[in-house]
Amino acid sequence: MSADSPPSILIVDDVPANLQLLSGMLTAHGYKARPATNGSMALEAARRAPPDLILLDITMPGMDGFEVCRRLKADADLADIPVLFISALGDATDKVRAFDQGGQDYITKPFHVEEVLARVRTHLALRRAQAELNGQNTALREALEQLKKAQNQLVMSEKMAALGVLAAGVAHELNNPLNFVKTSFHGLEKDIHDLTALVAFCRESVADEKRAALDAFEREKEYPTLVREIPELLSHIYEGLSRAGHIVGCLQVFSRTDDALSRDIDIHDVLESALVMLNNRLKKIATVEKKYGRVPLICGNFGKLSQVVLNILNNAIDAVESVDDPARRAITLTTGTATRDGTPQAVLHVADTGPGIAPEILGRIFDPFFTTKPVGRGTGLGLFICANLIQEHHGALEVASVPGQGATFSIYLPASREDAP
Ligand SMILES: Nc1ncnc2c1ncn2[C@@H]1O[C@H](COP(=O)(O)OP(=O)(O)OP(=O)(O)O)[C@@H](O)[C@H]1O
Ligand SMILES: [Mg+2]
Repeated sequence: MSADSPPSILIVDDVPANLQLLSGMLTAHGYKARPATNGSMALEAARRAPPDLILLDITMPGMDGFEVCRRLKADADLADIPVLFISALGDATDKVRAFDQGGQDYITKPFHVEEVLARVRTHLALRRAQAELNGQNTALREALEQLKKAQNQLVMSEKMAALGVLAAGVAHELNNPLNFVKTSFHGLEKDIHDLTALVAFCRESVADEKRAALDAFEREKEYPTLVREIPELLSHIYEGLSRAGHIVGCLQVFSRTDDALSRDIDIHDVLESALVMLNNRLKKIATVEKKYGRVPLICGNFGKLSQVVLNILNNAIDAVESVDDPARRAITLTTGTATRDGTPQAVLHVADTGPGIAPEILGRIFDPFFTTKPVGRGTGLGLFICANLIQEHHGALEVASVPGQGATFSIYLPASREDAP
């Protein structure tokens, strides 16, 4: 029902004289009257162009008014249109049946023109009010959704800030003991090496009469096993130390608040430096195809962006590594320009031919400590940190994946003001 066009009213009656009378009366009062002489015609007319109100006779050949009303109310697109029965059947049971079928009102023939007009006006006003209310409801629901989103974001950013402080504290506290364990480890490794050399030297120089006793002592202490085990144990300790160091490093990156986003950066430079760093892994596992396009410079922090690209590339390498056919282990890097929210952006897509990501975990991969990798292989902090760093750059990090056909991570970063076209 638009404000500038007259309300349209569908009149359904099999008696031409009735149709004419009602049409004339409604047209004279500024309504647009649309006649229909039977039930099927009425339904078809209503579906073609839904009217604002329907005046419906009950007794008609073929489909009667009750059935027309029932079908109208069963159609989601037409159910809201008010139906006013207008009939010579004045029995209470007929009226009850009419309301049961979903009719809004009932006028008995012969009718008074003024009464029909008054009821038409009332129902049209009701319908208008209902439409307004629905509109306001929708707006309210949308506002509530926005509010909920904003609230979630607020809670999330507060959580992140608190987590940042916690992470910084933990990283700092762990870093000191880790450093002296590391230093001691290197000292211990050297001492053991020297000790082993000393034992070997002593063995060489031991007098023959003592050799049998030395051999027995070595057997008792399982000396050969000991010598074999020591490097293995040391390498396990070193592996554990490296992992702990990596986690502390991640926590430090996550909680770092210094390093303003101040440099104009070409995303290709970030990519190339990451590729150099990963060259050793890449050349053994995957082929890299570069589809570089024109990208605007972005205002950012080179170290943080490198961290993001390294994490995403490392994930892509991990993913393609599990593909049996070495010819199908590919990573494609595509760069270009896009416009998002009206601002020009640099775009980087990292696509791999790995196993992809199952839909049920797609929503969780950015959560801290979410990993599907075996214990010791992944901390589950990579993408969490990436998402935070990209958010810090006012950009977006998105993922798309079809299981079995690989995954594509896309980074969008706003062009620096100097480079915006
Ligand atoms: N390219 C990819 N293909 C398939 N799965 C992926 C890909 N990238 C990420 N994932 C999934 O997302 C999870 C989380 O990734 P994320 O980088 O956060 O942690 P991680 O790689 O497991 O550990 P780390 O902290 O060492 O990076 C991964 O364990 C993996 O299940
Ligand atoms: Mg990772």
